[in-house]
Amino acid sequence: MNISDRQSQHGQWSSRWTFILAATGAAVGLGNIWKFPYLTGQNGGSAFVLIYIICVAALGIPLMMAEILLGRRGRATPIHTMKVLAEETNTTQWWQIIGWSGTIAGMLILSYYSVIGGWTLAYIVKSITGIFSGATGEFAASTFGTFVGSASSLFFWHTLFMVITMAIVAGGVQGGLEKAVQFLMPTLFVLLLVMVGYSMTTGYFGKGLAFLFTPDFSKLTGSSMLAAMGQAFFSLSLGMGTIMIYGSYVPKDTSIATTTIAIALADTAVALLAGMAIFPIVFANNLEASSGPGLIFQTLPVAFGNMTGGMIFGSLFFTLLLVAAWTSSISLIEPLVTWLIETFGMSRLKAAIYSGVATWLFGLGTVWSFNLWADLKFFGLTFFDLLDFITSNLMLPLGGILIALFAGWLMSAEHTKAELHIANPLLYTTWQILVRYIAPVAVFIVLLNAIGLL
Ligand code: PHE
Repeated sequence: MNISDRQSQHGQWSSRWTFILAATGAAVGLGNIWKFPYLTGQNGGSAFVLIYIICVAALGIPLMMAEILLGRRGRATPIHTMKVLAEETNTTQWWQIIGWSGTIAGMLILSYYSVIGGWTLAYIVKSITGIFSGATGEFAASTFGTFVGSASSLFFWHTLFMVITMAIVAGGVQGGLEKAVQFLMPTLFVLLLVMVGYSMTTGYFGKGLAFLFTPDFSKLTGSSMLAAMGQAFFSLSLGMGTIMIYGSYVPKDTSIATTTIAIALADTAVALLAGMAIFPIVFANNLEASSGPGLIFQTLPVAFGNMTGGMIFGSLFFTLLLVAAWTSSISLIEPLVTWLIETFGMSRLKAAIYSGVATWLFGLGTVWSFNLWADLKFFGLTFFDLLDFITSNLMLPLGGILIALFAGWLMSAEHTKAELHIANPLLYTTWQILVRYIAPVAVFIVLLNAIGLL
C-alpha cells in the first residue's frame, strides 16, 4: 500500500473544520485559563509572557506542523506511528520513544488535570448556590483554602471528573469529541470578554496590563524561562502525541500550516484574555499574584460576586471551563486508549476503563498534595508541582525536540513536502531551519540554563 493512502483505523475528521475545532479543543483548556495566569503571577509577569509568546511563535508553530505531519503520515497511535515511520525512513526503532514518552506524559498530566477539573466542577456548584454574592478577595481566598484543605472533597470531585471523562472517551472520536467543541468554545471566548469588561471597571486595568505587557527583564531567571517554554508546549498540547494522533485523522488535502497558525492564535488569545481578566482583580483586591494554582479560584469569584448577573455568569463560566477541560482531557488520554485498542484488540470501553482507573489512582497523589501531603516535598516541590515540572518542563519539550529532529533530519524532504503542501519554497526552508536547528538548540539552551549549566 502506498503510505500516503494509509487510513486511520480510528476514523477520520469529517472536514478540515472539525479538525481545527477538535485540535483547538485539545489546546484550549485549563492550561490557558487556570495555569497561564498563575504561572505568570509566580514568574513575575511580563517577561514570562514575552518568552511564552516567543516560544509559541518560534518553537510551537513549527513543531506543531511537524507533529501533525508525522501523525498524518503514520496514521496510527503515536507509538505505532513512530514504528511505521522509523521503518519507512530506515532508522532505528528507538524513535518509538517519542510515542512511549508522550503516551505516559498524557496519562501523568491527566492525573492532575482531573483534580483541577474537579475543582472546576465544585466551583460550578458553589457559584450556583450564590455563596460568592458580594464576595471580597479575602472571602474567596479563605473559601478556596478550606476547599482544597479537605482531602475528601477533592477526592470526590476528582473521581467524578474522571468517571465522566472515561464515559466520553468510551463514546469514540466522532461521537465524543466533535459535538461538544463547536458551540461551546466560542461561547467561552465571549464570556472571557465579559470578564475582561468587568476588570476594566475595577480601576486596576492599567496596572494589570502593565504587569502582563511592560517587559521587566529583571524578573527573568533560568527557571522562569523554562516555565514559559514548558507552558508553551503544555498549552499547545505539543510533544506528547496528542497532536500527532489528531493529525492522524486529518484529511489529505488540509493545509497543515494555516491550520496550525489558526490553532496557535486562538490558544494564545484565550490565555492572554484570561490574564487580562484576572490580574486587575488581583491588584484591586490586594491578592497575591504569586499565590499559585488557586489563583483563578481566588479571583474570579470576586468578579462574579460583584457584577450584575454574576451568579449566572459565574456558573456559566465554570461550566464552559469544565467543557474546555474535558475536550483537553480526552486528548490527553487518547494516545493510551488507542494504543490499548491497537495492541491488545481491546474494546474502546475496556481500554477507556483501564486507562481511566490507572490515571485516577495516580491522581490521588495530587489530591493529597494540597492537604494530607502538603508538607511532603521532593526537591522542594510538592507531589503536584513535581509531576507538573517533570511533564511540562521536561517530557514535553524533550518529546518536541525528538519530533523536530525526526521530521527535520530523518524524513525525506519529498515526504515532508508532500504532507505539508507548502508551495512557497522560502516558507518550506524556513520551517526546515526552525525544526532542524532553532528548535532543538533553543530547547537545550533553556534546559541547561535552568539547571544552572549555562
Ligand atoms: N493544552 C491543554 C491545556 O492547555 C492541556 C494539554 C496538554 C492537552 C497536552 C493535551 C496534551 O489545557
